[in-house]
Amino acid sequence: NKIVKAALLGAGTVGSGVYELVKERQEDFPHICGAQIEIAKILVRDASKERAGIPSDLLTDSWEEIIADDSISIIIEVMGGIEPAKSYLLEAMKAGKQVVTANKDLIAEHGHELLDTAEKYGCDFKFEAAVAGCVPIIQVLKQSMSSENITEIMGIVNGTTNYILTRMTQSGMSYDEALKEATDLGYAEADPTADVDGLDAGRKIAIMASIAFHSRVTFSDVYIEGIRNITAKDIFYAKEFNSVIKLVGIARKDENGIEVKVLPILIPQEHPLATVNDSFNAVFVHGTASDDTMYYGRGAGKRPTASAVTGDLCTVARHIIEKHSNLHVCSCYKELPIKNIQD
Ligand code: NAP
Ligand code: HSE
Repeated sequence: NKIVKAALLGAGTVGSGVYELVKERQEDFPHICGAQIEIAKILVRDASKERAGIPSDLLTDSWEEIIADDSISIIIEVMGGIEPAKSYLLEAMKAGKQVVTANKDLIAEHGHELLDTAEKYGCDFKFEAAVAGCVPIIQVLKQSMSSENITEIMGIVNGTTNYILTRMTQSGMSYDEALKEATDLGYAEADPTADVDGLDAGRKIAIMASIAFHSRVTFSDVYIEGIRNITAKDIFYAKEFNSVIKLVGIARKDENGIEVKVLPILIPQEHPLATVNDSFNAVFVHGTASDDTMYYGRGAGKRPTASAVTGDLCTVARHIIEKHSNLHVCSCYKELPIKNIQD
């Protein structure tokens, strides 16, 4: 039985979710990617702290211990922030390790350097969870729609602010109460300023615009307004106009260039985005041949985000097995009984 070993950098909301999900799906990995996947080490700041469900002997506060371990072939970065995450991932790529991350701050600022380094050293570099949680929008833009002339992307891409606006609209909750709930549910960033001031959505729209328009759009190119100043009065007037307030990211391309922005807007009740509530995200993509397509799902939280990270992990593990064996790994599933619908 082949085993692919990975190290997790971070055991917070997302990291603990990835550890749990890898354990939960253990039996199925050989069918999906041709190998068992083992989380062999977990990097944290405080390795002496007990973490529910995680064996303490996996925890370490030493990056050097992880990077020096040749048996570890995949680094999964879910610790957040720019440094030391960026240095660790560059070092991992140079050491021939494959990389998966959920870190949109890092991709929005340094994605091109990381992609160039991954290409130079022949590494996989996957970041599906960095935009819209478990909605597979990166895969869609990079692969399924790669031949499209995409002219517009518009979406609700921050779960925390969508949760706050939903609670303010549907339950009359105050902004502060709703933000506390979103934080308790694991949706908010370590510093929720990034969510409520629109910075997180700005990073995500910059990442999508870069891929969709085959361009280099960074966070500093995005015009941003957040939701901090939205009051109960605004919510009331939105309802009077049969509309809801949503924080949206918009990226447009025409012959004059690219425009990228994040701002709260009024959306009429009958528009599909008006029904995207709580931590759900949705992204519209307009292509000149495809017309409109829409992608929807949970944009934040432990298990949805862990699902996207673990999906990337499986893909990367399959590539490792294929490279070593020179064989295509066929995702053949185990035999399951087929139910007769007439029974
Ligand atoms: P979190 O709960 O704050 O967890 C961060 C983890 O990383 C903690 O275990 C922490 O260790 C560890 N860590 C942080 N800095 C470190 C350092 N310098 N050295 C070693 N360990 C360090 O964060 P999270 O919500 O899981 O988010 C992680 C990443 O995923 C972020 O990039 C975030 O933007 C992204 N993301 C989050 C979500 C979500 O719904 N939460 C969704 C998509 C993407 P200690 O526990 O010892 O402090
Ligand atoms: N804080 C982010 C959000 C996490 O609320 O959308 C998912 O990227």
